Order: sequence, then structure tokens, then C-alpha cells
Amino acid sequence: MTSAVIVRAAAIVCLSAAPGKDLGRAVYVARCSTCHRLEGEGTPGTAPPLRGMLGRYVVNGEGRDFLASIVVWGMIGPIESGGKRYNAVMPPFATLDDESLAAVLRYVLTTLNGRSAAPPAFVPTAADIRARRQTAGSAAAVRRMRLKLLEDG
Ligand code: HEC
Repeated sequence: MTSAVIVRAAAIVCLSAAPGKDLGRAVYVARCSTCHRLEGEGTPGTAPPLRGMLGRYVVNGEGRDFLASIVVWGMIGPIESGGKRYNAVMPPFATLDDESLAAVLRYVLTTLNGRSAAPPAFVPTAADIRARRQTAGSAAAVRRMRLKLLEDG
């Protein structure tokens, strides 16, 4: 009896120690990995890689807005990534809650892009996602954000 209570209490402590990381990974595996693959290497000809490709977006506000927007609105239309062309559709994930979308962005930025400690740090929060939901976004508009960012950069 007593030991069962202790085990349960210990489990709660473990879970609450890194809730965002576990949530982010769970969302990534369930919702993103089919296309972007478990290690973020992408699917040739279909979905661009995420691993090592997202650091360029954390350097300014427009890039951060782009990242928060793409998980809400998805993206459609031809793009280029790592010298390869893609022309497919990323579905919107607006039905997921703000914290799940913030957590999956934190997961891809840290685990797949090594952005945990390296400046400039960008740690997406539920508030970042909420702010993008309130804009009149669309999958086509997200692609225009990306084009503008990469042209300017
Ligand atoms: C059905 C396949 C599919 C799923 C599922 C998917 N994506 Fe995508 N993703 C794509 C495609 C395709 C593109 C490029 C869209 C285009 O060509 O306009 C993309 C682009 C991206 C980009 C931009 C990459 C760049 O180089 O600018 C990010 C970031 C991204 N996805 C993150 C995610 C995350 C996070 C999830 C899960 C919540 C997810 N994707 C789920 C297919 C998918």
C-alpha cells in the first residue's frame, strides 16, 4: 500500500520533470514523422528535411512567426530546400491545442536542430501559437512568408 503510493508519487515527479519534451516528442511521432521521418531527414521528393534546416528561422521575428504559423496553417506550393525542389502540401494542425504545437516546435528546434542552448535562443510558447491563430493565415500565405524570409536572408 505505502510502496504503491510512493511509486505513484515518483512517477508523477518524473513525468512533471520534462512534460514539454515528452509532449513534443509524442506529437512529432504521431503527427509529423510520417512525412518528415523520425530523425527529421524528410522524404525525398515529398517532404523537406527538418533536421539542421530550421536554425535560419530563429534569428528574427519573421522567422519565428513563420515557424509558429506553419504548424497552425500548414503550407502549400513549390519550395526549395537543400538545393532540392518540393511541391506538396503540409496539412494544417489547427485542431491541436496551443501547448501541443509549441511543444512540437520546441522538440524539432532542440532535438533535430540543436537549438537548446545555442543563441539566438527561441523557445516557442503557447502564447506564440495563439498569436498566429489570431492572424488571417492560410497555407499559401505561409509559403509567401517563407519565400520572403529566404529572399531577404
Ligand atoms: C502529410 C505530410 C506532412 C506532415 C504530416 C507534416 N508535414 Fe511539415 N511539411 C510537409 C511538406 C510537403 C512541406 C513543404 C510544403 C511545400 O512544399 O510548400 C513541409 C514543410 C514543413 C516545414 C518548413 C520546412 C522549411 O524548410 O521551411 C516545417 C517547419 C514543418 N513542415 C514542420 C512540420 C511539423 C512540426 C509537423 C507536425 C506537427 C509537420 N510538419 C507535419 C509535409 C508534412
